[in-house]
Amino acid sequence: MKVLRFANPEEATKAAFDIVSKRLEAGLKTIGLATGSTPLKLYEKLRNTNIDVSQVTTVNLDEYVGLEPADPQSYNYYMNEELFKYMNFAATYVPNGVAEDLEKECERYEGFLRNHPVDLQILGMGPNGHIGFNEPGTSFDSVTHIAELTPSTRDANKRFFDKEEEVPTRAITMGISSIMGAKEIMMLAFGEGKAEAVRTMIDAPVTVDCPATVLQNHSNAIVILDEAAASKLQ
Ligand code: F6R
Repeated sequence: MKVLRFANPEEATKAAFDIVSKRLEAGLKTIGLATGSTPLKLYEKLRNTNIDVSQVTTVNLDEYVGLEPADPQSYNYYMNEELFKYMNFAATYVPNGVAEDLEKECERYEGFLRNHPVDLQILGMGPNGHIGFNEPGTSFDSVTHIAELTPSTRDANKRFFDKEEEVPTRAITMGISSIMGAKEIMMLAFGEGKAEAVRTMIDAPVTVDCPATVLQNHSNAIVILDEAAASKLQ
Protein backbone atom coordinates (compact mmCIF):
# COMPACT_ATOMS: atom_id res chain seq x y z
CA MET A 1 0.00 0.00 0.00
CA LYS A 2 1.44 3.35 -1.01
CA VAL A 3 0.56 6.16 1.40
CA LEU A 4 0.73 9.81 0.36
CA ARG A 5 0.23 12.56 2.94
CA PHE A 6 -0.65 16.18 2.23
CA ALA A 7 -1.05 19.28 4.37
CA ASN A 8 -4.75 19.71 3.61
CA PRO A 9 -7.66 18.24 1.60
CA GLU A 10 -7.05 20.69 -1.27
CA GLU A 11 -3.49 19.45 -1.88
CA ALA A 12 -4.57 15.85 -1.39
CA THR A 13 -7.39 16.32 -3.90
CA LYS A 14 -4.97 17.86 -6.39
CA ALA A 15 -2.76 14.75 -6.13
CA ALA A 16 -5.80 12.49 -6.61
CA PHE A 17 -6.91 14.54 -9.61
CA ASP A 18 -3.45 14.29 -11.19
CA ILE A 19 -3.57 10.48 -10.93
CA VAL A 20 -7.14 10.16 -12.22
CA SER A 21 -6.61 12.51 -15.15
CA LYS A 22 -3.38 10.74 -16.10
CA ARG A 23 -5.20 7.37 -16.11
CA LEU A 24 -8.11 8.79 -18.15
CA GLU A 25 -5.72 10.29 -20.68
CA ALA A 26 -3.85 6.98 -20.91
CA GLY A 27 -7.04 5.24 -22.07
CA LEU A 28 -8.53 3.75 -18.90
CA LYS A 29 -11.76 1.96 -19.83
CA THR A 30 -13.71 1.56 -16.57
CA ILE A 31 -13.51 3.75 -13.47
CA GLY A 32 -15.14 2.92 -10.15
CA LEU A 33 -16.65 5.89 -8.31
CA ALA A 34 -17.67 6.70 -4.75
CA THR A 35 -20.09 9.28 -3.39
CA GLY A 36 -20.01 11.11 -0.04
CA SER A 37 -18.23 14.36 0.78
CA THR A 38 -14.64 13.20 0.30
CA PRO A 39 -14.51 13.07 -3.55
CA LEU A 40 -16.66 16.19 -4.15
CA LYS A 41 -13.73 18.47 -4.96
CA LEU A 42 -12.16 15.80 -7.13
CA TYR A 43 -15.36 15.62 -9.18
CA GLU A 44 -15.46 19.40 -9.40
CA LYS A 45 -11.95 19.41 -10.86
CA LEU A 46 -12.76 16.61 -13.29
CA ARG A 47 -15.92 18.21 -14.63
CA ASN A 48 -13.96 21.39 -15.31
CA THR A 49 -11.54 19.65 -17.65
CA ASN A 50 -12.20 18.72 -21.23
CA ILE A 51 -10.73 15.23 -20.94
CA ASP A 52 -12.41 12.96 -23.50
CA VAL A 53 -14.32 10.31 -21.55
CA SER A 54 -16.48 9.14 -24.44
CA GLN A 55 -14.87 5.69 -24.25
CA VAL A 56 -14.97 5.48 -20.45
CA THR A 57 -17.57 3.55 -18.45
CA THR A 58 -18.24 4.38 -14.79
CA VAL A 59 -19.48 2.06 -12.06
CA ASN A 60 -20.52 3.28 -8.64
CA LEU A 61 -19.99 1.47 -5.38
CA ASP A 62 -23.43 1.71 -3.91
CA GLU A 63 -26.95 3.09 -3.67
CA TYR A 64 -29.49 3.34 -0.86
CA VAL A 65 -32.36 0.88 -0.99
CA GLY A 66 -35.70 2.64 -1.44
CA LEU A 67 -34.53 5.91 -2.97
CA GLU A 68 -35.62 6.68 -6.54
CA PRO A 69 -32.82 7.88 -8.84
CA ALA A 70 -34.59 11.28 -8.94
CA ASP A 71 -34.50 11.57 -5.14
CA PRO A 72 -31.99 14.31 -4.22
CA GLN A 73 -30.56 12.07 -1.45
CA SER A 74 -29.91 9.16 -3.81
CA TYR A 75 -26.44 8.39 -5.08
CA ASN A 76 -27.82 8.30 -8.65
CA TYR A 77 -28.86 11.93 -8.18
CA TYR A 78 -25.56 12.89 -6.56
CA MET A 79 -23.55 11.42 -9.44
CA ASN A 80 -25.68 13.17 -12.07
CA GLU A 81 -25.37 16.50 -10.31
CA GLU A 82 -21.68 16.29 -9.46
CA LEU A 83 -20.25 14.63 -12.55
CA PHE A 84 -22.35 12.84 -15.13
CA LYS A 85 -24.28 15.78 -16.49
CA TYR A 86 -21.04 17.57 -17.30
CA MET A 87 -19.09 14.74 -18.93
CA ASN A 88 -19.87 12.51 -21.90
CA PHE A 89 -19.08 9.08 -20.41
CA ALA A 90 -19.80 6.08 -22.65
CA ALA A 91 -22.01 4.60 -19.91
CA THR A 92 -22.62 5.22 -16.22
CA TYR A 93 -23.81 2.53 -13.81
CA VAL A 94 -25.16 3.05 -10.32
CA PRO A 95 -27.15 0.28 -8.60
CA ASN A 96 -30.93 0.65 -8.77
CA GLY A 97 -32.10 0.97 -5.17
CA VAL A 98 -35.76 0.65 -6.15
CA ALA A 99 -35.43 -2.48 -8.30
CA GLU A 100 -38.45 -4.74 -7.87
CA ASP A 101 -36.18 -7.69 -7.16
CA LEU A 102 -33.20 -6.43 -5.19
CA GLU A 103 -31.37 -9.78 -5.20
CA LYS A 104 -31.58 -9.87 -8.99
CA GLU A 105 -30.31 -6.31 -9.15
CA CYS A 106 -27.26 -7.35 -7.10
CA GLU A 107 -26.61 -10.27 -9.48
CA ARG A 108 -27.07 -8.03 -12.51
CA TYR A 109 -24.61 -5.51 -11.08
CA GLU A 110 -22.02 -8.11 -10.18
CA GLY A 111 -22.29 -9.60 -13.69
CA PHE A 112 -21.77 -6.17 -15.10
CA LEU A 113 -18.59 -5.77 -13.02
CA ARG A 114 -17.32 -9.10 -14.33
CA ASN A 115 -17.81 -7.89 -17.90
CA HIS A 116 -16.28 -4.47 -17.21
CA PRO A 117 -13.30 -5.01 -14.93
CA VAL A 118 -12.56 -1.82 -13.04
CA ASP A 119 -9.21 -0.26 -13.92
CA LEU A 120 -9.20 2.32 -11.14
CA GLN A 121 -11.54 2.33 -8.14
CA ILE A 122 -11.91 5.51 -6.11
CA LEU A 123 -12.83 4.85 -2.48
CA GLY A 124 -13.68 6.81 0.62
CA MET A 125 -13.94 5.24 4.06
CA GLY A 126 -16.35 5.45 6.93
CA PRO A 127 -15.14 6.39 10.43
CA ASN A 128 -15.76 2.70 11.27
CA GLY A 129 -13.54 1.57 8.38
CA HIS A 130 -16.34 0.66 5.98
CA ILE A 131 -15.66 0.71 2.25
CA GLY A 132 -18.64 0.99 -0.04
CA PHE A 133 -21.34 0.03 2.47
CA ASN A 134 -19.37 -3.01 3.63
CA GLU A 135 -19.66 -2.59 7.34
CA PRO A 136 -17.35 -4.19 9.93
CA GLY A 137 -17.81 -7.96 9.92
CA THR A 138 -18.53 -8.22 6.17
CA SER A 139 -16.80 -11.19 4.56
CA PHE A 140 -13.83 -10.40 2.33
CA ASP A 141 -15.40 -12.85 -0.16
CA SER A 142 -18.56 -10.76 -0.49
CA VAL A 143 -19.83 -9.68 -3.90
CA THR A 144 -22.57 -7.13 -4.64
CA HIS A 145 -25.24 -7.52 -1.95
CA ILE A 146 -27.80 -5.80 0.23
CA ALA A 147 -26.17 -4.36 3.34
CA GLU A 148 -27.80 -3.31 6.59
CA LEU A 149 -26.32 0.04 7.60
CA THR A 150 -24.95 0.25 11.12
CA PRO A 151 -26.26 2.92 13.50
CA SER A 152 -22.86 4.68 13.28
CA THR A 153 -23.02 4.86 9.47
CA ARG A 154 -26.60 6.12 9.54
CA ASP A 155 -25.48 8.68 12.11
CA ALA A 156 -22.50 9.76 9.97
CA ASN A 157 -24.75 10.13 6.90
CA LYS A 158 -27.67 11.87 8.57
CA ARG A 159 -26.10 15.23 7.70
CA PHE A 160 -27.35 14.74 4.14
CA PHE A 161 -30.97 14.23 5.25
CA ASP A 162 -33.57 16.49 6.88
CA LYS A 163 -34.38 13.99 9.62
CA GLU A 164 -32.38 11.08 11.00
CA GLU A 165 -35.30 8.67 10.46
CA GLU A 166 -35.13 9.46 6.72
CA VAL A 167 -31.68 7.83 6.44
CA PRO A 168 -32.28 4.48 4.72
CA THR A 169 -31.47 1.37 6.70
CA ARG A 170 -30.22 -0.68 3.74
CA ALA A 171 -28.10 -0.21 0.65
CA ILE A 172 -26.96 -2.17 -2.38
CA THR A 173 -23.19 -2.25 -2.31
CA MET A 174 -20.39 -3.79 -4.26
CA GLY A 175 -18.86 -6.43 -1.99
CA ILE A 176 -15.31 -6.45 -0.70
CA SER A 177 -14.30 -9.06 -3.25
CA SER A 178 -15.90 -6.97 -6.02
CA ILE A 179 -13.94 -3.91 -4.88
CA MET A 180 -10.68 -5.83 -4.57
CA GLY A 181 -11.10 -6.94 -8.21
CA ALA A 182 -10.12 -3.45 -9.38
CA LYS A 183 -6.67 -3.30 -10.96
CA GLU A 184 -5.83 -0.17 -9.00
CA ILE A 185 -7.46 1.34 -5.93
CA MET A 186 -7.21 4.93 -4.77
CA MET A 187 -8.49 5.54 -1.24
CA LEU A 188 -9.08 9.12 -0.10
CA ALA A 189 -9.52 10.02 3.56
CA PHE A 190 -9.64 13.51 5.00
CA GLY A 191 -10.23 14.92 8.46
CA GLU A 192 -9.67 13.95 12.06
CA GLY A 193 -12.84 11.87 12.13
CA LYS A 194 -11.11 9.32 9.89
CA ALA A 195 -7.76 9.27 11.75
CA GLU A 196 -8.43 6.20 13.88
CA ALA A 197 -9.79 4.15 10.96
CA VAL A 198 -6.81 5.27 8.83
CA ARG A 199 -4.40 4.13 11.54
CA THR A 200 -6.10 0.74 11.70
CA MET A 201 -6.20 0.43 7.91
CA ILE A 202 -2.47 1.00 7.61
CA ASP A 203 -0.81 -0.05 10.88
CA ALA A 204 -3.05 -2.82 12.28
CA PRO A 205 -3.41 -6.43 11.14
CA VAL A 206 -5.91 -7.19 8.36
CA THR A 207 -9.30 -7.91 9.93
CA VAL A 208 -12.96 -7.97 8.90
CA ASP A 209 -13.57 -5.73 11.92
CA CYS A 210 -12.12 -2.89 9.85
CA PRO A 211 -12.99 -3.60 6.20
CA ALA A 212 -10.50 -1.01 4.87
CA THR A 213 -7.60 -3.13 6.21
CA VAL A 214 -8.23 -5.45 3.23
CA LEU A 215 -6.45 -2.88 1.08
CA GLN A 216 -3.19 -4.12 2.62
CA ASN A 217 -3.78 -7.25 0.49
CA HIS A 218 -4.15 -5.32 -2.78
CA SER A 219 -1.05 -5.16 -4.97
CA ASN A 220 -1.79 -1.69 -6.36
CA ALA A 221 -3.45 0.46 -3.72
CA ILE A 222 -2.68 4.08 -3.05
CA VAL A 223 -3.94 5.96 0.00
CA ILE A 224 -4.17 9.75 -0.16
CA LEU A 225 -4.52 11.53 3.18
CA ASP A 226 -4.56 15.00 4.59
CA GLU A 227 -2.57 15.66 7.77
CA ALA A 228 -5.63 15.36 10.03
CA ALA A 229 -6.51 11.90 8.71
CA ALA A 230 -2.85 10.86 8.92
CA SER A 231 -2.38 12.25 12.45
CA LYS A 232 -2.54 8.88 14.25
CA LEU A 233 -0.11 7.04 11.96
CA GLN A 234 3.16 5.92 13.52
C1 F6R B 1 -19.90 6.21 -0.81
C2 F6R B 1 -19.34 5.12 -0.02
C3 F6R B 1 -18.91 5.29 1.39
C4 F6R B 1 -18.18 6.61 1.64
C5 F6R B 1 -17.78 6.74 3.11
C6 F6R B 1 -17.14 8.08 3.38
O1 F6R B 1 -20.23 5.77 -2.12
O2 F6R B 1 -19.28 4.03 -0.52
O3 F6R B 1 -18.10 4.22 1.77
O4 F6R B 1 -17.04 6.66 0.82
O5 F6R B 1 -18.91 6.60 3.90
O6 F6R B 1 -18.08 9.10 3.23
P1 F6R B 1 -17.64 10.63 3.29
O7 F6R B 1 -16.76 10.88 2.11
O8 F6R B 1 -18.93 11.40 3.18
O9 F6R B 1 -16.93 10.81 4.58
